[in-house]
Amino acid sequence: MIFTVGGIKGGTGKTTLSTNLTVWLSRQGADVLLVDADEQESASDFTAWREETLKDNIGYTLVQLHGATLRRQVEQMRPKYDHIVIDTGGRDTASQRAALFISDIYLLPFAPRSYEIWTLSKVQALLSEIQGSRATPLQLYSFLNKADTRGPDNSEAIEVLSDNEELNYVDFPIINRKAFATAASKGLSVFEMTPADEKAINEVEALFRHITGIKK
Ligand SMILES: Nc1ncnc2c1ncn2[C@@H]1O[C@H](COP(=O)(O)OP(=O)(O)OP(=O)(O)O)[C@@H](O)[C@H]1O
Ligand SMILES: [Mg+2]
Repeated sequence: MIFTVGGIKGGTGKTTLSTNLTVWLSRQGADVLLVDADEQESASDFTAWREETLKDNIGYTLVQLHGATLRRQVEQMRPKYDHIVIDTGGRDTASQRAALFISDIYLLPFAPRSYEIWTLSKVQALLSEIQGSRATPLQLYSFLNKADTRGPDNSEAIEVLSDNEELNYVDFPIINRKAFATAASKGLSVFEMTPADEKAINEVEALFRHITGIKK
C-alpha cells in the first residue's frame, strides 16, 4: 500500500507519524520505502540520526523525491516494496498532489487548536480536485495528533472534523506526549524507546492497525 501523510498546515505531526508508521510496518516484517517529499528534509534528518543511533540496519529504505518525478518514481518502485510511506510538507505543494494521485491511503493529522481547523477548506478543495481525477477514490483518515489529555479544544476540533463527512474523522487520538520528540531526536520510533511510553505506543498502534487493517 502507498500511504501519504499530509495536510496543508505545518507542524501537525506529519513527519512524526510517517516515520513511526514506516518503522512500525518494518517491525511487522514488511519491506518499506520512506519517501521524503518535503524540501525541509525532516524525514531524511530522522533517518540520518537513526543511522547514527543504530549503526547498521535501519529497517527501511529512504529516498527524496519531489513533484512529477515523485509520481513516476514511486509508480516504478511500487512493485519492489510491500509498503511505501510518503512524508509531505506542510503546504499545498505539487509534491503532495503528485503523492495523492498514486496513494491508496491519505493520513491527515490535525492538532486540536482552532487555527488548525481554518485550513480545512483548503484541504477540502485539494481533496475534491484529487478525488475528481482518480480512477478509484482515495481512502483518507483524519484524526487528532498532539491532542490534550482532556479539555474543550479536543471536542471542538472533533466536532468540526466529524461535520465534514469526506474527511472521515476516526476516533484514534494521539495525545501530546514528550516521548515522540525524545524518540525522534535519536531517529527512533516510540516502539524502540527505553523506557517505553506505553500510552504513546498504544495510541499510535491503535491508529496504525485501524488504517492498515493489520491485526495483532
Ligand atoms: N503526539 C505528539 N506529542 C508530542 N509532540 C509531538 C507529537 N507529534 C509531533 N510532535 C512534535 O511536534 C513537532 C512537529 O512535528 P512534526 O515535525 O512531525 O510535524 P510536521 O507536520 O512534519 O511539520 P512540518 O509541517 O514542518 O513538516 C516536533 O517537534 C514533534 O516532535
Ligand atoms: Mg514534516
